[in-house]
Amino acid sequence: MSRWSWFLLQTLCLLSTGAAPPRAAPGAANCDLKSQQSELNSFLWTIKRDPPSYFFGTIHVPYTRVWDFIPDNSKEAFLQSSIVYFELDLTDPYTISALTSCQMLPQGENLQDVLPRDIYCRLKRHLEYVKLMMPLWMTPDQHGKGLYADYLFNAIAGNWERKRPVWVMLMVNSLTEVDIKSRGVPVLDLFLAQEAERLKKQTGAVEKVEEQCHPLNGLNFSQVIFALNQTLLQQESLRAGSLQIPYTTEDLIKHYNCGDLSSVILSHDSSQVPNFINATLPPQERITAQEIDSYLRQELIYKRNERIGKRVKALLEEFPDKGFFFAFGADQCPHLSVSCSHITSSGRSYQVAV
Ligand SMILES: *[C@@H]1O[C@H](CO)[C@@H](O)[C@H](O)[C@H]1NC(C)=O
Ligand SMILES: *[C@@H]1O[C@H](CO)[C@@H](O)[C@H](O)[C@H]1NC(C)=O
Ligand SMILES: *[C@@H]1O[C@H](CO)[C@@H](O)[C@H](O)[C@H]1NC(C)=O
Repeated sequence: MSRWSWFLLQTLCLLSTGAAPPRAAPGAANCDLKSQQSELNSFLWTIKRDPPSYFFGTIHVPYTRVWDFIPDNSKEAFLQSSIVYFELDLTDPYTISALTSCQMLPQGENLQDVLPRDIYCRLKRHLEYVKLMMPLWMTPDQHGKGLYADYLFNAIAGNWERKRPVWVMLMVNSLTEVDIKSRGVPVLDLFLAQEAERLKKQTGAVEKVEEQCHPLNGLNFSQVIFALNQTLLQQESLRAGSLQIPYTTEDLIKHYNCGDLSSVILSHDSSQVPNFINATLPPQERITAQEIDSYLRQELIYKRNERIGKRVKALLEEFPDKGFFFAFGADQCPHLSVSCSHITSSGRSYQVAV
């Protein structure tokens, strides 16, 4: 699945501190296949023209976890490009307020009125548990930066009773111990946006908030209730200790740092959307899970690829003498219908199928 950046960024934008980057954990990328970092793939694609333009595949994890493993060619391409484009303009306060309002229930409605009673009560109970645990989940490093549990809880979940169920579902899914521990450091895409601003580059965005937000609001009521129920069931078994946390974020970071292109792209791990297709589901529920998955795939990957591809093409044609750097979710780049070459960090280059 594609980018759910905005959901997390909404909070992360409020929290990023601009502090000096902590070093990535030693040994974070223990790549099995290739030992030489310089022989690994980068997530950089060139668009051959003069000056060259680039696609760079980002992921939505704290940048400190991946920055040291991003090859120099990608960093140089970023520095040399005069215009940097993102999916959304994450540094624009309008983006944040538009995301917030897109997630809200219509005026006068409340989750208590909307949700089945059983789901509402379980949700409330789960959030009380999270609030209780949050001070224990946070790290001394987070405290050192002035980040406190009350503040963080309110920033993420403060107005949960007013959110649309689908957004509450995503919120619950991101309120785990592992995710909480990574708050307070900008994610890679936001970090690049801040760097572009600091370096006084011209910046822009190829999408509008509504284009990312509305497809999610387009899931119907029974689909959303199903998804929220599954998310709560999963969190409840996690709480009861009968389910291990699936370390999908850790896997994603490892694949990204190892330049393992196909894993990052094909798994669609970079989504924050839970995968509901669970082999133990009863047949009727498995069908619902598959319908949700194919709806989101259609809306958030295929339709968006087409839209983004058209806008990229238009920009390149309008400004033929400018060097662009397009920083999009790593799972978007290879699907865009713009001809480009993929280059490894050692400079080898091959054509990707476009
Ligand atoms: C929701 O959408 C699914 C799949 O399109 C459909 O089977 C179901 O009947 C819809 N439910 C409601 C309440 O509209
Ligand atoms: C939640 O899911 C469980 C297990 O799939 C099911 O038995 C239960 O009826 C669902 N609850 C609601 C409110 O949909
Ligand atoms: C799969 O679904 C079943 C029934 O809803 C649930 O008990 C189980 O925890 C789920 N497994 C995972 C990994 O989510």
